[in-house]
Amino acid sequence: MSDRKLLSSEAYRAIDKEIAKYPADRKSSAVMAALAIAQNEVGWVSESVVEDISQYLGMRPIAVWEVATFYGMYNLEKPGRSKVAICTNLPCALQGANKMVDQLKAKLGIDFNQTSPDGSVTLKEAECMGACGDAPVVIINDREMRGKIALADVDSLVEELKAR
Ligand code: FES
Repeated sequence: MSDRKLLSSEAYRAIDKEIAKYPADRKSSAVMAALAIAQNEVGWVSESVVEDISQYLGMRPIAVWEVATFYGMYNLEKPGRSKVAICTNLPCALQGANKMVDQLKAKLGIDFNQTSPDGSVTLKEAECMGACGDAPVVIINDREMRGKIALADVDSLVEELKAR
């Protein structure tokens, strides 16, 4: 739609494609995809994003917030240049995820849901990603999954992310 400003016309076209997957009176079913498209473009789910998506889908803003705050993949604050989320559910924990968490926190000098002081890396805790056979698992920038991470890999992973 040409009168909209927050996202690019490509992003609105992508959202339109998602909307078209559902019956005409069920536009709100596209909310997760719409938030992901907006986050991909803006970097995070800001108040403006929620307002815009709620208007676009004909939803109340609170209903969009409910989705945005329920799922861990939406950034509710502006993240660093890279985001790393580590799964701490039982199969990953049994394969050493908690020690990796300690090392990630120490190496980055931050806790979960924080961004390193240089703005390079945001650390998140993730729920099971359905890749337990590859435990322990991290996901980088919501798209790049890496499994069977060893404690010895943590420092180089951090260096790699800082260099992005
Ligand atoms: S428990 Fe970590 S991916 Fe399933």
